[in-house]
Amino acid sequence: MSVDRKHLKTVLITGGGSGIGFEIAKQLLATQLYRLVLLSQNRQKLEAALKMLGGSSDQISSVTCDLRDSKQIKTALERITATHKGIYGLINNAGIYPLGGISSTREASWDEAMAINLKAPFLLAQALAPLMAKNSNGGRIINISSTAGILPNHFALAYSVSKAALVHLTRTLAKELGKDNITVNCICPGIVRSPIHETYHHSETELEEFYAKRGTALPLGRIGEPADVTGAVKFFLSEDSAWITGDVLVVDGGRLLL
Ligand SMILES: NC(=O)c1ccc[n+]([C@@H]2O[C@H](COP(=O)([O-])OP(=O)(O)OC[C@H]3O[C@@H](n4cnc5c(N)ncnc54)[C@H](OP(=O)(O)O)[C@@H]3O)[C@@H](O)[C@H]2O)c1
Repeated sequence: MSVDRKHLKTVLITGGGSGIGFEIAKQLLATQLYRLVLLSQNRQKLEAALKMLGGSSDQISSVTCDLRDSKQIKTALERITATHKGIYGLINNAGIYPLGGISSTREASWDEAMAINLKAPFLLAQALAPLMAKNSNGGRIINISSTAGILPNHFALAYSVSKAALVHLTRTLAKELGKDNITVNCICPGIVRSPIHETYHHSETELEEFYAKRGTALPLGRIGEPADVTGAVKFFLSEDSAWITGDVLVVDGGRLLL
């Protein structure tokens, strides 16, 4: 089937090169409704992701940017807005998961979590909302928070606090941007299989045991796969959610029921 490229809506996905972000890109590309820009810091991973996803260069492209650095964010945004006339969607998905409670969380780790998980979504929304406001069909901002942003995880203090603040950023922006027909919603996944968990486990077997143990404890009996999160993203991007803003959708296999 041929795609009418004129009608594709441009969507920026941060952290689109791996895990949940990669799956979001894959599923959105398959709808043939969107033109995607993937942003993350690792150029090789982004290039590999583009290769795996396929699609033509006017359907999908990438930009390298370290979200800890506001100058790099500014440069990346200049590149994106120079090549894409209008931006319809922003999916703030990039994130880091530093472990540590009150005594073991270093200041640098706190600052890094706040920069990537919270400040970058704010800066990107601040820059892109005025462009979305010019669209006849408005815009969509989707923040990927976490169940840890609702139910504190004291083993990951900085992460929990950054994700809770991201929930509040969502709701606060939703109030201000509604007048411009921009919806701002948030998705809180529970545990999902992705590279974010790999650094904390010494072997594949240990990681699989961790997933199995965490999955069995959930009401739905298994951990999530990245594809379990993408339905919510597609919904918040679509016309079906046109009158929903400031919402916090939990996608967690029942984790918050425990
Ligand atoms: N997996 C879970 O259990 C789970 C649960 C709840 C919420 N989440 C949230 O889901 C989102 C996606 O995570 P994931 O599980 O898919 O893990 P992931 O595969 O590790 O993805 C994280 C993404 O963030 C990007 N990123 C990290 N630091 C960056 C930086 N300084 N600048 C630019 N990009 C940066 C990474 O890009 P590079 O590869 O280029 O570094 C990567 O693409 C995160 O916000 C995470 O908190 C995940």
